Amino acid sequence: SAAEKGGWPSFMDKEIHEDPEAVANTLLGRFDDQGDIVLDEVHIGLDVFRQIDKIIVVACGTASYAGMVAKYAIEHWVRIPVEVELAHEFRYRDPILTPRTLVVAISQSGETMDTLMALRHAREQGSRVLAICNTQGASIPRESDAVLYTHAGPEIAVASTKAFVAQIVAAYLLGLYLAQVKGTMYRDEIRHILEQLKDMPQKIQWVLDNQAGNVEQAAKRMINAHSFLFLGRHVGYPVALEGALKLKEIAYTFTEGFAAGELKHGPIALVDAGEPVVVIVPSARGRNILHNKVISGIEEVKARGAFTIAVAELGDPDVEQYADVVFWRPVCPTLLSPLVDVVPLQLFAMDMAMLKGYDVDKPRNLAKSVTVE
Ligand code: G6P
Repeated sequence: SAAEKGGWPSFMDKEIHEDPEAVANTLLGRFDDQGDIVLDEVHIGLDVFRQIDKIIVVACGTASYAGMVAKYAIEHWVRIPVEVELAHEFRYRDPILTPRTLVVAISQSGETMDTLMALRHAREQGSRVLAICNTQGASIPRESDAVLYTHAGPEIAVASTKAFVAQIVAAYLLGLYLAQVKGTMYRDEIRHILEQLKDMPQKIQWVLDNQAGNVEQAAKRMINAHSFLFLGRHVGYPVALEGALKLKEIAYTFTEGFAAGELKHGPIALVDAGEPVVVIVPSARGRNILHNKVISGIEEVKARGAFTIAVAELGDPDVEQYADVVFWRPVCPTLLSPLVDVVPLQLFAMDMAMLKGYDVDKPRNLAKSVTVE
């Protein structure tokens, strides 16, 4: 009903605007006054955690992209390999699991059958399973050894938004916790990242307050586009995949997301005059070499007539020269940037669906939670 939507035209609109809260609430109570991470609800012994030598994230859809972001952060911080696999692929290929493997099952609903089957298999093989879940007492957390709840609040719209940013935050907390118990990072470093994480809700809020109009205008210009390419590199890669997924889910537009470095290995063949290409641009700060590489990707598609939309950091010295439209985000650490970069793409998908007159909360053919294999 209208009241449940709290004055917003759709649940999706409401939920995107709850992104900052979802991040803040998921951080809440997860560290003490000293800045140490406390995950009281995770009942896996410290001795077990110290022995973990590999993580496998299993998930489906949007949750799997949160897992991909987790890989970049956790491998960097904890120095153990993190694999990310779609739950339905993982389950039926005889994956290598040992008692020292931590399987992380990410699920908003906690009822996705593919993910549930994957975690059952992992436990049968003697691995520990930790669930990252948004729904108290759902099947996935109940059947796991431990759970780290995301506190995004109930998500009603089929297309996941606030749960995604909360899943990323939970994965960061898990990574920092592992770094803390394994001693792979200095306490000061962990504290510093926690401080930066605490700043993220206001950065997301900045995007919502300052870029929504810009995004809506771009959606109006692109209303007749038949397909979109999304490209990103490093943590921008999963953001590109998520941006592509959102748009196909609710605006029924053919989209493909891919790693920016793959452009020349295939996707550039698709680029023709007027083809919309959305690019997640890494920060130019700190002489980030990836910045220039992604900018030249924009240059290449632009030279072939693409209509380019960039998501870029405020102060980026190069992007405006090549991008037809820029969605700006505040300055933030690279590993945390997916939390802000995804926000304009959530808005963009919603605006496109609204402008086309579709039901953004209940897209055709999709279910909020898929409880069959
Ligand atoms: C369905 C939904 C997606 C969601 C996926 C995983 O396909 O339509 O939005 O990302 O399931 O759901 P989960 O509840 O496991 O996160």
